[in-house]
Amino acid sequence: MGFTAVYDNVVLIGFMGSGKTSVGKALARQLYKKFVDVDSTIEAEQNASVTEIFETKGEAYFRDLEQKCMNELTKKKGQVIATGGGLPIYSSIPEKSLIVYIDADFDVILNRLSAKEHAKRPLLQDEARARALFDQRIDTYKELAVFRADANQSVSTFIHFIRDFILDQRVL
Ligand code: S3P
Repeated sequence: MGFTAVYDNVVLIGFMGSGKTSVGKALARQLYKKFVDVDSTIEAEQNASVTEIFETKGEAYFRDLEQKCMNELTKKKGQVIATGGGLPIYSSIPEKSLIVYIDADFDVILNRLSAKEHAKRPLLQDEARARALFDQRIDTYKELAVFRADANQSVSTFIHFIRDFILDQRVL
């Protein structure tokens, strides 16, 4: 007997540096699904880094690219999609997305990010402002998600919770 999948794609949300990309790659591998990353897709299409886009075109332009990219990517099904931390704040995530919140504490994120990964994120440069952004955003992440993963440990310690939830939901 067949079944109809309720969701088209898994969409990972969460603050900058929470591990969405690492989690997404590992999940996609374990589920034999394609992994796509919104930031990397935009960078490839624009032939510019996120930092360069922020500097030359501004944040509003980047937010517009994010929404367009999300709309394009979700025309396809069966993918694990990692978003940028601001995407769920400024863009709508198409229905039929199984939204998973990768939830790491602000201090854990700061301690875990390498200098290189930190430097890539324009909105993380001023620590006080980044912390305020974190506090502003968490409620939206919680409201949107159907599943929250405590991401304060290494990916290998919590990824099976997400994988099992997805398998139970008969997503994809
Ligand atoms: C942003 C998060 C970044 C990137 C951009 C803006 C944000 O993605 O999209 O720097 O507003 O939180 P990551 O969440 O992958 O760092």
